[in-house]
Amino acid sequence: MGREGQPAAPASVPRHVGVIMDGNGRWAEARGLPRSAGHKAGIDALRRMVRASADLGIEYLSVYSFSTENWRRPRAEVSFLLDLLRRFIRQDVAELHAAGTRIKIIGAREDLEPSLVKMLDEAEKLTAENNKLTLVVAFNYGSKQELARAAKKLATEVAAGKLTPDQIDDAALERALDTDGIPPVDLLIRTGGEQRISNFMLWQCAYAEFVFLPVFWPDFDGAALQTAVDEFGARERRFGGLKAQTA
Ligand code: IPE
Ligand code: IPE
Ligand code: MG
Repeated sequence: MGREGQPAAPASVPRHVGVIMDGNGRWAEARGLPRSAGHKAGIDALRRMVRASADLGIEYLSVYSFSTENWRRPRAEVSFLLDLLRRFIRQDVAELHAAGTRIKIIGAREDLEPSLVKMLDEAEKLTAENNKLTLVVAFNYGSKQELARAAKKLATEVAAGKLTPDQIDDAALERALDTDGIPPVDLLIRTGGEQRISNFMLWQCAYAEFVFLPVFWPDFDGAALQTAVDEFGARERRFGGLKAQTA
């Protein structure tokens, strides 16, 4: 079923698409530009992706913007990426809100500046009731760290007597993740040509279909999304069961 007030998208359209937006640096280097120019162009690609996803009827779009491991990059690049998130929130939230997009930011907030955290909180609050597309921005996100945080939450509840160890099952752990309430990833797209998950949504991608595209993220457009969605539609998902009977 589609979200409230919307017709359901065809079954071949994934409900939740995850994107590892990779290849910004190589895109820029190929043009003799600084890596920062690639990150900047990557924001335009993100805007195209959000629009194309909403047009296709995708309900959840999760984008990997900055990993917990990306702090290992030179300080100037890290600052640029932090600044870019700030600028994206400042410039795009009003338009996203007007288009009915709900914004959710996942990842560890404690390493971010309080003024940035405030902006993220406000963007989430402003758009909380929107019901067209949910845009999940993974920033300072690492799946292993998210799982460790979830384990800590559950352990704290057990220590407080609110939960017994027996009550810890996959549903309880899922509720303790940053993605609480968001369905699992159906289609995971990685641009840039690398074929790895780089600590993105390990739990949420348990049964995702993976599509790796050779295109650098700044070149990503609606046609590339359609290619990935077509590939997704051609896959047979079995979730551990058997091939669907045709006769
Ligand atoms: C992805 O592009 C953006 C981030 C990781 C922040 P990269 O910056 O990793 O670009 P490449 O992989 O070096 O080309
Ligand atoms: C993954 O890309 C992180 C983001 C896209 C934000 P990386 O470029 O950091 O991944 P690796 O280092 O190639 O695995
Ligand atoms: Mg990369």
